[in-house]
Amino acid sequence: MDSIDLNKIRLETRGCSDLIHFNNAGASLMPVPVADYLYGFLQEEELKGGYETAAARNEELENFYTAGAQLLNAKPSEIAFVENATRAWDMVFYALPLERGDKILTTVSEYGSNLIAYLHRAKQTGAKLLVIPNDKYGQIDVEALEATVDENTKLISISHIPTGGGLVNPAKEVGEIAKKYKIPYLLDACQSAGQMPLDVQSIGCDFLSATGRKYLRGPRGTGLLYVKEDWIKRLEPPLLDQFAAELITGENYEIRADAKRFENWERYFAGQAALGRAIDYALKIGLEPIQERVFGLAAYLRTKLEETDVINLTDEGVQKCGLVTFQHRKLSAQQLKSRLFDQNVNVSISSGSGMKLSYEARNLDPLLRASVHYYNTTDEVEKFVSIIKSL
Ligand SMILES: Cc1ncc(COP(=O)(O)O)c(C=O)c1O
Repeated sequence: MDSIDLNKIRLETRGCSDLIHFNNAGASLMPVPVADYLYGFLQEEELKGGYETAAARNEELENFYTAGAQLLNAKPSEIAFVENATRAWDMVFYALPLERGDKILTTVSEYGSNLIAYLHRAKQTGAKLLVIPNDKYGQIDVEALEATVDENTKLISISHIPTGGGLVNPAKEVGEIAKKYKIPYLLDACQSAGQMPLDVQSIGCDFLSATGRKYLRGPRGTGLLYVKEDWIKRLEPPLLDQFAAELITGENYEIRADAKRFENWERYFAGQAALGRAIDYALKIGLEPIQERVFGLAAYLRTKLEETDVINLTDEGVQKCGLVTFQHRKLSAQQLKSRLFDQNVNVSISSGSGMKLSYEARNLDPLLRASVHYYNTTDEVEKFVSIIKSL
């Protein structure tokens, strides 16, 4: 758990001197090299003009694509900058052709906005949504998935790390089935990007969406989309502007040949370049050491919480990640969150809307979610648990 230079990393995380920040699954604290870079970019926009700054910093803006590609083991031309993970995901999902009778396969732990989009398109097109049951560990049951696939299956789409618990879905095993039956595979990696290594070649996904502000430690309002090369030209984005496509005459246009066809012209330029920096920062530390530390700290937190006798842990999965969810036996999640906030501890509440099918199936009320990052410490975990004990 200690191949990371924690002293340096904490010095480069200004917020952690005043706070115990266990809301990394909401938005993590930006590191100094990313935050200062972002402020510098914005100041240059103020002093020199937005278009002029973008032109002068073109290489830094392009770095987002090379860094994103390196993070995912993809090509820069397969990466798009989108304002958040949901829109990145939507740009692919709404581009995929669906007809009456087609089937979309997903998980019980699917993210709320994705579920809404499935239901929306099912209503529009007559396609059907099938929710694959969980295995005994709460992960998507890969055998049930394979048994459900048929010639009408047009999409497999899952959340890798769901929003409201410690579960890590078996993305690679799902990818093997998608590959075997040649079904497009969309992976929501919003919570896993920056928390664990992601290799689109070995996972076997055709599309992947991620956000900047969570485990990647980038700014808010930034996201990333990966679209496999041989899919790019086959997918017509649901929205086009004169950046995504070019007007040839007044009557026809040509859509860009790379993943930038899923972008739009006006965007958060400073955020794009800063997200590139944040990805560089994560790559420099290494995604394997990051995963080891995050998963290790979360395991320690679960053990300590279990010892208190006032907490019920609710995390599922074989391999558990940095998101730790639980209920206090006497206090509601809201009460607990505000008492912790009063003591400079940030956590969040998983209300269930983000993971409705799963919470309903398990009859869960809103949960407290404490999500740790590699810059958190065992001391913070112990302090957190002792505050909970004192309530
Ligand atoms: C699993 C999962 N998918 C998607 C999202 C949406 O991300 P964004 O808010 O960047 O659109 C979240 C956000 O919490 C999430 O946890």
